[in-house]
Order: sequence, then structure tokens, then C-alpha cells
Amino acid sequence: MDLYEYQARDMFEAHGVPVLGGEVAVTPEEAFAAAQRVGAKSGGVVVVKAQVKTGGRGKAGGVKVAKSPEEAQALAAQILGMDIKGHTVKKVMIAEGAKIAEEYYFGLLLDRTNRTYLAMCSKEGGMDIETLAVEHPEKLARIAVDAIDGLDEAKAREIIAAAGFDEADVPALVNVLVTLGDVYAGEDATLVEVNPLVKMEDGQIVALDGKVTLDDNAGSVTPSTRSSSTTR
Ligand SMILES: Nc1ncnc2c1ncn2[C@@H]1O[C@H](COP(=O)(O)OP(=O)(O)OP(=O)(O)O)[C@@H](O)[C@H]1O
Ligand SMILES: [Mg+2]
Repeated sequence: MDLYEYQARDMFEAHGVPVLGGEVAVTPEEAFAAAQRVGAKSGGVVVVKAQVKTGGRGKAGGVKVAKSPEEAQALAAQILGMDIKGHTVKKVMIAEGAKIAEEYYFGLLLDRTNRTYLAMCSKEGGMDIETLAVEHPEKLARIAVDAIDGLDEAKAREIIAAAGFDEADVPALVNVLVTLGDVYAGEDATLVEVNPLVKMEDGQIVALDGKVTLDDNAGSVTPSTRSSSTTR
């Protein structure tokens, strides 16, 4: 099961992953009120983001910056009801506006063939990661993560070094990766992806966009796992 971005944001926050303020709204009036609260921390600037379970929302016109609650309301009126790749927008998230210095990529997913997890990380995020993987594979670090050890501090350092980050950013990045590993393990996820993971102008590292897929079979004993365990 895929989560909406706002659900991933809330889940990240509960596990201590640094995120910015964000509230979901289903009407333009709710968007106005949410923008008043969320924008209080960012000089009134918020981002109105379509909540749909598909990628490429920005390119489709579903991610827009607003400088006031009035503008957020008008943009929400535009975005709610919009069709993005066959998905009708029924909710928007009003996100705190970030002053972005750099955009990175981080993903942790299940590698079924090798029975491990795979961490992927790049200093060049924000863009279409599939394109980066094809055109510049050397810019996307891929590190196997043992399913038992999980994403511990040593593994986080290995991933960060492989991606070639600056020494000054390492402590904050270690914290973000380890807490994202907690989300993955603690929530029975098969995918936790942050694109972009950003460095803000003040140097803070925050997860600006989150995609989480939960394991539909977690905690349940299905006929297939029962039969495989008896044949083992
Ligand atoms: N809270 C924010 N503050 C400032 N800029 C933002 C914020 N959220 C998103 N952006 C900008 O908009 C871009 C696109 O946002 P985001 O990654 O959330 O959507 P997307 O990539 O279009 O959608 P998807 O990830 O579903 O393909 C980001 O790379 C970032 O530059
Ligand atoms: Mg994105």
C-alpha cells in the first residue's frame, strides 16, 4: 500500500526525521486556514501540493508556491479537482516554504532477489531519479543493507561517503538516514524514498517530499508464507 505524501510526512515526524510543517486540506477555505498556521514559520510562504499517489506532480502543475494565505486558497481552488495522470486531486498539503540550497536523493527499498535492502543515494536529487540512474549511474550510490543489522550509523556513514557528501553535512545526514531506517524497519515498509532530501540555506537537512510503501503482508500469515515455511 502506497501512502500519500502527507501521511509519509507525519510518519517521518513521529520517527524523528526532520520535516517541515505541513497540513492537509480538502477545500480552498481549509487551505487558507492551514496556510495561516503553516506559513507563520516561513514568512507567509507556503507550497500547495497535490496529494496523489503518482509521481511528477510538479511538472503537471500540482506543486505551487504561495506568498500569502489568500494566494494559497486560490491555488488550492485550482489544484483541487485537477487530473494528474488519471488521479483526481481530492486533497492538497499546505507545506512550509523552504529556502533550498541543494537537493539530494535517498531511497531504501527491498531487494527481493538478494534478500537484502538496497540503499540509493545521490547528491543530485529533485530530478527524475530513473533518468539519473540511466544517464549518470556513477552519480547514484547503491549500497546493500543487511536485513538483520538494518541501517545503523556505520552503514549510514558508508552510504554518505559513497555518495560523496561534504564532511560538514555528514552528522546531519547520518541522523536523517538512521531515522529513515527506523521508519523502514518500524513500519514494515518495502520502500522509503525522499526526493528531494534538501539542504536549506541555514544548513539544516530536511525531508521535503516522502514516498512510503507499506508491506501489505506485514504481520499476517498468508497461505504462501505458511507453505514456504513448511517446505524449508
Ligand atoms: N516545502 C517546499 N518548499 C520549497 N520548495 C519546495 C517544497 N516542496 C517542494 N518544493 C520544490 O518543488 C519540487 C517538487 O516537489 P516534490 O518533489 O514534492 O514533487 P514532485 O517531485 O513534482 O512530485 P513527485 O515527487 O510526486 O514526482 C522540489 O524538488 C522542490 O524544488
Ligand atoms: Mg519529488
